[in-house]
Amino acid sequence: MTPSDADYQRAVELLRAGELVALPTETVYGLGADAANPAAVAKIFAAKGRPADHPLIVHLAGHDAVAHWAEQVPDVAWELMETFWPGPLTLILKKQAWVPDAVTGGQDTVGLRVPGHPVALELLRRFAAVAGEHAGIAAPSANRFGRISPTTAAHVAEELGNSVPLILDGGPCSVGIESTIIDCSRSEPVVLRPGHISPLHLEAVLGHQPAIETAHGAPRVSGSLAAHYAPQTPMRLVTGERLLDFLNAQRHRGGRCGVLSTNQPPQAGMPHDWRLLPADPVGYAHDLYAALRAMDHAGVDLIVVEALPDSSEWAAVADRLRRAVAGAGQS
Ligand code: TXA
Ligand code: MG
Repeated sequence: MTPSDADYQRAVELLRAGELVALPTETVYGLGADAANPAAVAKIFAAKGRPADHPLIVHLAGHDAVAHWAEQVPDVAWELMETFWPGPLTLILKKQAWVPDAVTGGQDTVGLRVPGHPVALELLRRFAAVAGEHAGIAAPSANRFGRISPTTAAHVAEELGNSVPLILDGGPCSVGIESTIIDCSRSEPVVLRPGHISPLHLEAVLGHQPAIETAHGAPRVSGSLAAHYAPQTPMRLVTGERLLDFLNAQRHRGGRCGVLSTNQPPQAGMPHDWRLLPADPVGYAHDLYAALRAMDHAGVDLIVVEALPDSSEWAAVADRLRRAVAGAGQS
């Protein structure tokens, strides 16, 4: 799953020419373009069918590039970078005046991340070697707008195949859900999107758990739209206690369900498609999007997700499930 030297060269040539390249990161696959080239960035929005006022994350090869993109970077932001980069944490910072509106959605801030995937880092280093040491790759998740983020190269081909000239294959993503986003442009850091880096991890640097502000419906963070990360099949969350009754009722109606659960089926011979997911939040996040995608392909009538514990360690997974339920079955 390691791209060849020729693959990297082609990727860099495409980026330099203002074309798109899909790349693996440790969270999900991204759809990348030269972040300093507004015409190239516009192609991302066209390929995804995404509204143009949604800001993108700029991926960098290392901390050294940060000051080129952001200004007034507070000390706490540098500490977060030291601790969590390369890794699944995106920082929102005041942008430098030159940063294109195409990247920031016209806002005065920019999202920055040094990803932890070796293929992403190698591409970023090679791109910076020819485009300038501070060069960055703007990349949203490589899915069509509102749909499930891709965690393998095959998922990217399924979502965007014809509109991306090159998909770098780096194997399945290790984290499986999008990066934690923390806004450091305000007086106090605030989490805009929960992720693998949890409030508890952040507490180690901040000295307290940051507030989480996932304003439903606000377009500032597109993942914060109530409906997002959604499969095409309708979806329901059902508590463990009600699950068996619910599934039996569906069966009487002739409906076949795809069930996502951390437990074995309560009885044998159920006519439903049962998928066992890991009972820990990290393992569950890793498998979640591939499982939702598989359910879409399995042709079930309804995806039933057994509700998860209501604790902060499950917050990121619960956030994605809530939005998936809100958007499911709409396309
Ligand atoms: O893990 C990830 O973050 C993946 C990989 C490819 O890095 N990327 C990703 O990108 O999830 P995307 O575009 O699907 O989600 C990025 C989120 C969006 O919700 C966007 O609104 C938010 O980051 N964002 C970017 N810049 C922002 C800014 N200046 N202010 C507030 N939110 C911002
Ligand atoms: Mg996305």
